[in-house]
Amino acid sequence: MQSSGRLILVCGLPGSGKTTLAEALEGRLQAIRFSPDDWMDALSINLHREDMRAKVEALQWELAQQLLAQGLTVIIEWGTWARSERDALRLGARALGAAVELHYLNAPSDVLLERLERRGRENPPIERDALFEWVEIFQAPTNAEMALFDEPLMADFSNPG
Ligand SMILES: Nc1ncnc2c1ncn2[C@@H]1O[C@H](COP(=O)(O)OP(=O)(O)OP(=O)(O)O)[C@@H](O)[C@H]1O
Ligand SMILES: [Mg+2]
Repeated sequence: MQSSGRLILVCGLPGSGKTTLAEALEGRLQAIRFSPDDWMDALSINLHREDMRAKVEALQWELAQQLLAQGLTVIIEWGTWARSERDALRLGARALGAAVELHYLNAPSDVLLERLERRGRENPPIERDALFEWVEIFQAPTNAEMALFDEPLMADFSNPG
Protein backbone atom coordinates (compact mmCIF):
# COMPACT_ATOMS: atom_id res chain seq x y z
CA MET A 1 0.00 0.00 0.00
CA GLN A 2 1.52 3.35 -0.98
CA SER A 3 0.08 6.54 0.42
CA SER A 4 1.89 9.78 -0.32
CA GLY A 5 1.91 10.35 3.42
CA ARG A 6 5.09 11.41 5.18
CA LEU A 7 6.00 11.27 8.85
CA ILE A 8 8.63 13.74 10.01
CA LEU A 9 10.18 12.92 13.38
CA VAL A 10 11.98 15.75 15.16
CA CYS A 11 14.10 14.25 17.90
CA GLY A 12 16.19 15.87 20.64
CA LEU A 13 16.44 16.88 24.28
CA PRO A 14 14.48 19.79 25.80
CA GLY A 15 15.76 23.08 24.41
CA SER A 16 17.36 21.47 21.36
CA GLY A 17 15.02 23.40 19.06
CA LYS A 18 12.44 20.78 18.08
CA THR A 19 9.44 23.08 18.18
CA THR A 20 11.36 25.84 16.41
CA LEU A 21 12.24 23.50 13.52
CA ALA A 22 8.86 21.76 13.51
CA GLU A 23 7.01 25.08 13.19
CA ALA A 24 9.20 26.10 10.27
CA LEU A 25 8.64 22.77 8.50
CA GLU A 26 4.92 22.90 9.23
CA GLY A 27 4.57 26.13 7.29
CA ARG A 28 6.75 25.09 4.39
CA LEU A 29 5.36 21.58 3.92
CA GLN A 30 1.71 22.22 4.81
CA ALA A 31 2.06 19.61 7.51
CA ILE A 32 0.15 18.87 10.68
CA ARG A 33 2.36 19.26 13.76
CA PHE A 34 1.85 17.28 16.96
CA SER A 35 3.32 18.91 20.05
CA PRO A 36 2.40 17.30 23.39
CA ASP A 37 3.31 20.52 25.23
CA ASP A 38 0.72 22.53 23.28
CA TRP A 39 -2.05 20.06 24.05
CA MET A 40 -1.02 19.80 27.72
CA ASP A 41 -1.00 23.59 28.07
CA ALA A 42 -4.44 23.75 26.42
CA LEU A 43 -5.73 21.15 28.89
CA SER A 44 -4.07 22.90 31.90
CA ILE A 45 -1.83 19.88 32.53
CA ASN A 46 1.56 20.60 34.09
CA LEU A 47 4.33 19.83 31.59
CA HIS A 48 6.14 17.70 34.20
CA ARG A 49 3.27 15.13 34.28
CA GLU A 50 4.93 12.29 32.38
CA ASP A 51 1.89 10.00 32.82
CA MET A 52 -0.36 12.52 31.07
CA ARG A 53 2.28 13.24 28.44
CA ALA A 54 2.25 9.53 27.52
CA LYS A 55 -1.53 9.62 27.12
CA VAL A 56 -1.42 12.75 24.99
CA GLU A 57 1.26 11.20 22.78
CA ALA A 58 -0.84 8.03 22.38
CA LEU A 59 -3.80 10.15 21.24
CA GLN A 60 -1.58 12.09 18.86
CA TRP A 61 -0.19 8.88 17.34
CA GLU A 62 -3.72 7.53 16.73
CA LEU A 63 -4.63 10.70 14.89
CA ALA A 64 -1.27 10.87 13.11
CA GLN A 65 -1.78 7.38 11.67
CA GLN A 66 -5.17 8.34 10.29
CA LEU A 67 -3.69 11.41 8.64
CA LEU A 68 -0.73 9.47 7.21
CA ALA A 69 -3.10 6.89 5.75
CA GLN A 70 -4.89 9.76 4.03
CA GLY A 71 -1.62 10.86 2.45
CA LEU A 72 -0.92 13.89 4.63
CA THR A 73 2.38 15.08 6.09
CA VAL A 74 2.64 14.81 9.86
CA ILE A 75 5.33 16.19 12.16
CA ILE A 76 5.93 14.54 15.53
CA GLU A 77 8.10 16.58 17.91
CA TRP A 78 7.88 14.51 21.09
CA GLY A 79 11.56 14.23 21.93
CA THR A 80 11.67 10.49 21.10
CA TRP A 81 14.69 9.80 23.33
CA ALA A 82 14.69 6.04 22.83
CA ARG A 83 15.73 4.17 19.72
CA SER A 84 12.88 1.71 20.34
CA GLU A 85 10.34 4.53 20.30
CA ARG A 86 11.69 5.87 17.00
CA ASP A 87 11.72 2.32 15.57
CA ALA A 88 8.05 1.86 16.43
CA LEU A 89 7.06 5.15 14.80
CA ARG A 90 9.13 4.44 11.68
CA LEU A 91 7.71 0.96 11.21
CA GLY A 92 4.18 2.12 11.99
CA ALA A 93 4.34 4.85 9.37
CA ARG A 94 5.89 2.55 6.76
CA ALA A 95 3.13 0.01 7.38
CA LEU A 96 0.72 2.74 6.24
CA GLY A 97 2.76 3.29 3.09
CA ALA A 98 4.19 6.58 4.32
CA ALA A 99 7.75 7.88 4.01
CA VAL A 100 9.52 8.70 7.28
CA GLU A 101 12.25 11.23 7.97
CA LEU A 102 14.25 11.77 11.12
CA HIS A 103 15.68 15.14 12.18
CA TYR A 104 18.02 15.06 15.15
CA LEU A 105 18.80 18.29 16.98
CA ASN A 106 21.54 18.72 19.52
CA ALA A 107 23.42 21.37 21.47
CA PRO A 108 25.83 21.31 24.43
CA SER A 109 24.14 20.79 27.80
CA ASP A 110 24.82 24.28 29.10
CA VAL A 111 23.38 25.77 25.91
CA LEU A 112 20.23 23.67 26.36
CA LEU A 113 19.95 24.82 29.96
CA GLU A 114 20.44 28.45 29.08
CA ARG A 115 17.77 28.29 26.36
CA LEU A 116 15.30 26.59 28.71
CA GLU A 117 15.92 29.18 31.42
CA ARG A 118 15.42 32.00 28.95
CA ARG A 119 12.26 30.41 27.53
CA GLY A 120 10.77 29.83 31.00
CA ARG A 121 7.96 27.54 29.90
CA GLU A 122 8.19 24.88 32.65
CA ASN A 123 6.96 25.42 36.19
CA PRO A 124 8.99 24.67 38.21
CA PRO A 125 11.90 25.19 35.80
CA ILE A 126 13.88 22.17 34.57
CA GLU A 127 16.83 21.73 36.94
CA ARG A 128 20.42 21.55 35.85
CA ASP A 129 20.96 18.12 37.47
CA ALA A 130 17.85 16.70 35.80
CA LEU A 131 18.91 17.95 32.38
CA PHE A 132 22.43 16.55 32.78
CA GLU A 133 20.93 13.20 33.78
CA TRP A 134 18.72 13.24 30.67
CA VAL A 135 21.74 13.89 28.48
CA GLU A 136 23.10 10.54 29.72
CA ILE A 137 19.82 8.68 29.16
CA PHE A 138 19.14 10.10 25.71
CA GLN A 139 19.87 7.67 22.86
CA ALA A 140 21.19 9.84 20.07
CA PRO A 141 20.51 8.40 16.60
CA THR A 142 23.55 6.73 15.08
CA ASN A 143 24.45 6.96 11.41
CA ALA A 144 23.16 3.40 11.02
CA GLU A 145 19.78 4.43 12.40
CA MET A 146 19.64 7.60 10.26
CA ALA A 147 20.19 5.39 7.20
CA LEU A 148 16.92 3.57 7.92
CA PHE A 149 14.94 6.76 7.23
CA ASP A 150 14.03 8.48 3.98
CA GLU A 151 15.87 11.52 2.71
CA PRO A 152 14.34 14.68 4.26
CA LEU A 153 12.39 16.94 1.91
CA MET A 154 14.02 19.93 3.62
CA ALA A 155 17.34 20.04 5.42
CA ASP A 156 17.57 21.50 8.94
CA PHE A 157 18.10 25.23 8.89
CA SER A 158 20.47 25.54 11.80
CA ASN A 159 21.87 22.65 13.76
CA PRO A 160 25.20 23.19 15.44
CA GLY A 161 25.41 19.39 15.72
N1 LIG B 1 19.31 26.98 16.91
C1 LIG B 1 18.94 27.75 17.94
N2 LIG B 1 19.76 28.70 18.39
C2 LIG B 1 19.42 29.49 19.44
N3 LIG B 1 18.24 29.38 20.09
C3 LIG B 1 17.38 28.46 19.67
C4 LIG B 1 17.68 27.58 18.59
N4 LIG B 1 16.64 26.74 18.42
C5 LIG B 1 15.75 27.08 19.36
N5 LIG B 1 16.18 28.11 20.10
C6 LIG B 1 15.48 28.75 21.23
O1 LIG B 1 15.67 27.88 22.33
C7 LIG B 1 14.44 27.71 23.05
C8 LIG B 1 14.06 26.25 23.00
O2 LIG B 1 13.71 25.91 21.64
P1 LIG B 1 12.46 24.99 21.35
O3 LIG B 1 11.31 25.40 22.20
O4 LIG B 1 12.27 24.94 19.89
O5 LIG B 1 13.06 23.60 21.88
P2 LIG B 1 12.34 22.20 22.06
O6 LIG B 1 13.31 21.16 21.62
O7 LIG B 1 11.00 22.21 21.40
O8 LIG B 1 12.18 22.11 23.64
P3 LIG B 1 11.10 21.21 24.48
O9 LIG B 1 11.53 19.79 24.36
O10 LIG B 1 11.25 21.73 25.87
O11 LIG B 1 9.76 21.47 23.90
C9 LIG B 1 13.42 28.61 22.39
O12 LIG B 1 13.33 29.79 23.13
C10 LIG B 1 13.99 28.86 20.99
O13 LIG B 1 13.63 30.13 20.52
MG1 LIG C 1 9.09 21.92 22.11
